[in-house]
Amino acid sequence: MTSGTLPGPPRRLVFLGPPAAGKGTQAAELARELGLAHLSTGDLLRAAVAEGSDLGRAADDHMRAGRLVPDDLVLRILGERLARPDATSGFILDGFPRTLAQAEALGRITDLDAVVSFDVDPKLLVERMAGRRSCPKCGAVYHLTSNPPREAGRCDRDGTGLIQRPDDRAEALEVRLRAYHDQTAPLREYYLRRGLLRSLDASGSPTEVAARLRRLLAEPSGRPPDGRRPSKP
Ligand code: AP5
Repeated sequence: MTSGTLPGPPRRLVFLGPPAAGKGTQAAELARELGLAHLSTGDLLRAAVAEGSDLGRAADDHMRAGRLVPDDLVLRILGERLARPDATSGFILDGFPRTLAQAEALGRITDLDAVVSFDVDPKLLVERMAGRRSCPKCGAVYHLTSNPPREAGRCDRDGTGLIQRPDDRAEALEVRLRAYHDQTAPLREYYLRRGLLRSLDASGSPTEVAARLRRLLAEPSGRPPDGRRPSKP
């Protein structure tokens, strides 16, 4: 399948990048702005864990340790979410795919218009991860210094006490970074060969990154004008 020439900004997007690169922060805002569904496999899995469903119980240990959740579980949860009506007019996949098997499965379900690779200095990732706090009720994400809530420790939207994600603690950090380098980073090359990859410098403030992201998405696609994919080597 091919996506053809796009009349406006890309509407079927993947955000690829290491943990705490700022994918979720940018995806939430861009999805609101463009009327796209924001599909975060991390959020879907955390909701399944909180519900105590079979899938959530199976995912919990992997997530706490910072390992990837097995492909079959993630594909199940993502496939169900992608089939919902709000995703039909466009989506941002945040944190999916993360393995070659997931990327291939996704290619069988839908075409993509662009894959944005968030490129960030590893030192910044550690700072962003250590300072992240989130609302267990509504999922809003804050940072102790770069995006603090109005009242310390409380969600701006609903006043709930903010928490630190179990996998943001130092013990899981190294495992998550290794999982990214070994299993997810090779997808950059995979999508580059398909003419879909766009690299985003994700350093700087959230506002600076947001402006860069919009410029990047306004650029014409790397695809040939007839929408054909470049041949795979
Ligand atoms: P997931 O929730 O997807 O975690 P992740 O990819 O590691 O991404 P993060 O949520 O950590 O970061 P982000 O890039 O969204 O950054 P954010 O915007 O929050 O996955 C969690 C786990 O679930 C995985 O480890 C795995 O076990 C499992 N999982 C999920 N998907 C899976 C899959 N497909 N396959 C298998 N397993 C899967 O920003 C981070 C912090 O920085 C925030 O505090 C934010 O306020 C701040 N910030 C954001 N931008 C900036 C900026 N420009 N400057 C300063 N601070 C910033």
